Amino acid sequence: MMYILEKMFTVSTLLAFILVGCGNSSSQKETKKLQMTEEINNNDEDSESYTPYLKEHHANYSQDGNSMTPSPTKDVNAKSIDWTIRASSNEGAENLVKHLHFMINKLENNGNPRPFDKLFLMEAYMKYNHYYITTVEQSATSVVVSKQAITDCAYKVIAAHSDVVSGDFFAQGDIKNDYSLKAETILVSSACDDVRTSVEAYISQR
Ligand code: HEM
Repeated sequence: MMYILEKMFTVSTLLAFILVGCGNSSSQKETKKLQMTEEINNNDEDSESYTPYLKEHHANYSQDGNSMTPSPTKDVNAKSIDWTIRASSNEGAENLVKHLHFMINKLENNGNPRPFDKLFLMEAYMKYNHYYITTVEQSATSVVVSKQAITDCAYKVIAAHSDVVSGDFFAQGDIKNDYSLKAETILVSSACDDVRTSVEAYISQR
């Protein structure tokens, strides 16, 4: 009797392994396929956005006219942010411009760099809905970036983003932090009353 029970157990265990194994192999294939697609997309985005280059060479950029870390001139009344950034080589300036064109294009086409980060999502919302514009000019090693907002809420977002670019990106080459808390603080401010519901819906969809 014991012998028969043991045999039944072995056979059913074997069957269960085969069934589970078959089920897994197709879902594992799907997961693998998805991972590979994501890796390809991420690699494309990395090479086209020049973000790894900027991270590695962050210390080769300075404030125009002195050796300090680039930081923008902010004008809260005009709702504008202006940067003049000096690269240490023509290549450095060109790659920064390529980064900017890639990001501007991505935002204008409803894309989301760093979709986990509410500050970047909020900036994408503002750009896509024409609450601010960005202009970029390059002359040899000098890059001039101007951002002009039309609402106080959009200005707060581009100002917060510029603090991140200056403080963490240029100063440290550190791109791993999440700035969602900054976005939440801006979003609850009265400057954003008109767009709050719409921004919240946008963020939760992404
Ligand atoms: C996680 C990596 C990064 C992402 C997702 C990213 C994304 C962006 C986005 C979305 C913009 C705004 C474009 C616009 O508003 O029209 C921007 C602007 C800019 N980025 Fe990056 N960036 C990254 C890393 C870096 C690094 C490492 C540097 C330099 C060391 C850098 C320098 C700049 C500059 C100078 C601007 C223009 C100024 C501004 O928007 O305030 N970025 N980037």
